[in-house]
Amino acid sequence: MTIIDGKATAATIKQEIAAEVAEMVANGMKRPHLAAILVGHDGGSETYVRNKVLACEACGFDSTLIRFEDDVTEEELLTCINGLNENEDIDGFIVQLPLPAHISEQKVIEAIDYRKDVDGFHPVNVGRMNIGLPCYLSATPKGIIELLRRYNIPTSGKHCVVLGRSNIVGKPMASLMMMKNFGDATVTVCHSRTANLKEICRNADILIAAIGRPEFVTAEMVKPGAAVIDVGTTRVPDTSRPKGFRLCGDVKFDEVAPLCSFISPVPGGVGPMTICMLMLNTLAAAKHEYYPAE
Ligand code: GUN
Repeated sequence: MTIIDGKATAATIKQEIAAEVAEMVANGMKRPHLAAILVGHDGGSETYVRNKVLACEACGFDSTLIRFEDDVTEEELLTCINGLNENEDIDGFIVQLPLPAHISEQKVIEAIDYRKDVDGFHPVNVGRMNIGLPCYLSATPKGIIELLRRYNIPTSGKHCVVLGRSNIVGKPMASLMMMKNFGDATVTVCHSRTANLKEICRNADILIAAIGRPEFVTAEMVKPGAAVIDVGTTRVPDTSRPKGFRLCGDVKFDEVAPLCSFISPVPGGVGPMTICMLMLNTLAAAKHEYYPAE
């Protein structure tokens, strides 16, 4: 059984990016520049955005953090997005989700110029991804594909079961695993209403758990020799930790790990790769890799 080290893989990729940026700058190009909009003070979002800014520093990118309070109006936010769309120094930007209930996330996502949408959430990028055109890929599925590749985990012709159907992870993950140039696998998507869920999971050569329920996947749901990827990041209360919580995956690691050929842990598996893929998307934006400069 091999434990997939997402932290080490992400560190390697960040070094690769930093080396490329150093070369770009030496050749007279500007540093890639990522902006992030953060609304409110949600603990999880604060941490994610802080880590994104730190990752920019590690990669040699410029970064700009724009903060709004919870009571920002949708109009103010949309004005800020328009400014970033038009700001030529900004290569790509993200609006950290979730947003307060009075703001339409969909409206916000669609206001972002798809050529700067390094999260890959805009319908143009989602649509292009689904028909195999160059585009920004959503960071979590992209990070999982990268881990499968770097660990030489066979996917072509295999049965991949994706647990979860979210727009950010489950759906794009299933799409990429199905596509010839990515997973080339046979894909089943399961969710909270799936009948025979245990039997279907037990049939998976590759099981990707993104259902958001701590320790949902137990040993009886895993085929011996399967590769298991855990996308769960639920904060569960833990008074023994300085922060009063710990991150818990969707997989009951201790009982599932001995059965697996490969398993990604939480923390230290998919999580560190996600931010790293945002950096790769920002680098691609700076290089106009998917959408030519006008
Ligand atoms: N909230 C949780 N994950 C993400 C992400 O990947 N991007 C943004 N913008 N918000 C998130």
